[in-house]
Amino acid sequence: MARIPIGPEFTNDAPVGTAIGEVPPRREPVKVPTHRYISPAWADLEMTHVWPRAWQLACTVDHVPSPGDWFEYTVGNLSVLVVRGDDGRLRGFQNVCRHRGNVLCTGSGSGLTELRCPYHRWSWTLDGKLREVPSRRGFGALRNDDYPLFPVQVGTWGPLVFVNLDPEAEPLDDYLEAIPGLLEWARLEEYVCAYDLTVPLPCNWKTLIEAFSETYHVQGIHREMLPSCDDVNSVNRLYGRHGSLHQPYGVPSPRLRNGATDQEIWDSIIVTQGARYGQDSENPGACPPVPDGGSVRDVLEGLIRDATSAKGLDLSGFDQAQMLDLFQFNLFPNITVIVMCDSITVLRARPGPTPDDALMDLLHLDRRPPGADRDRPVQATIAAEDASLNLVFDQDLSNLQRAQRGLHQPGLDHIVLSREEMRIINLHRNLEEFIGVDELSPEAVAEIQALRSQPPAIGPTPH
Ligand code: FES
Ligand SMILES: [Fe+2]
Repeated sequence: MARIPIGPEFTNDAPVGTAIGEVPPRREPVKVPTHRYISPAWADLEMTHVWPRAWQLACTVDHVPSPGDWFEYTVGNLSVLVVRGDDGRLRGFQNVCRHRGNVLCTGSGSGLTELRCPYHRWSWTLDGKLREVPSRRGFGALRNDDYPLFPVQVGTWGPLVFVNLDPEAEPLDDYLEAIPGLLEWARLEEYVCAYDLTVPLPCNWKTLIEAFSETYHVQGIHREMLPSCDDVNSVNRLYGRHGSLHQPYGVPSPRLRNGATDQEIWDSIIVTQGARYGQDSENPGACPPVPDGGSVRDVLEGLIRDATSAKGLDLSGFDQAQMLDLFQFNLFPNITVIVMCDSITVLRARPGPTPDDALMDLLHLDRRPPGADRDRPVQATIAAEDASLNLVFDQDLSNLQRAQRGLHQPGLDHIVLSREEMRIINLHRNLEEFIGVDELSPEAVAEIQALRSQPPAIGPTPH
């Protein structure tokens, strides 16, 4: 595997990035108490106040394409069934039998004509109405209308299916804030879920999702990216609940004192994401000729246009940034949606059996030409040591296996966060708002409020 040498030309004194708008510089670090990552009591607070009330990604439309398809989404001890009815509509139900509380279905499947509890065979229609109770007379006067399945709110954004157990929760469209509008150009409905992998990890769900909520760690564990990725000036933004990052590629990090040559930029991009450009990531070779007055970004744009056209995709309306760059959205509480012109990766972090365990779900979606088949996603659970996707992701995964242990050291009663880590701070402030506690300092809360009120725009970053 080729490696980008990073030597004395590297500096740790690059300016602090993500300075947006008029938010004044802060005086001190934001502190987050460590107990949020290791304490069963805090996990219980999340289980009581967050998971039953927050909108969460359950699956994609490709998991439940036809009438009678169902998919079970679990989070902690909660379980939701997403069911496609005979009328083609998606509905959600709490996965519980109204007789004595048995779960109704596990996993996923197709061909349902009713929801029948296997224990004593009560049964409901696919729209949740009770229709059959064996030996009904033994219950006395039992009216079907009194025992429907408990409905769960369902909403879709492009191919993504979200659920919310709280019947009083705001609609999904409101919860997503400005984000669907900002991504209208990307035509999310053209993306199809190819696979859905679950990897159990020895860390808290927040430790996991936070590893995908800042670029400060690029100079730590993804140094191969530095010649092709400006980890300092890429634009982070906060909304109310959510956050975003626009990451241009083919632009060197200011942490490299002397910048990067075209060949170094090329090597870096091909080593870290060569497959996307139809290149062998193990052997970058010579950088193709850069047009006069142009840049490596122009070369990359040509390659990605060729690669996507060859797949039958019409991206002619996309500009250079839309073709090359990464648009990431961190949706509270537990997913990040990474949009590129040809694929979407959704990473979801679910709590595991203890605060030191999490389930990482990785949903990969490809853009397909209009009318292409939408196969059901391949689903698998794999051990962390067997999970390998690409250089950068594998670096994240490897680090996550050591990111939690230190949080138990008795000296570490809080962690400290930079403004570059604003999306993590916003996650914690939102947790406080759901749970009803105030542990962050007033200055930290004021900063988050100010950052949230910046204009919700995302677009090409000036360099
Ligand atoms: S628990 Fe479901 S029918 Fe008895
Ligand atoms: Fe990373």
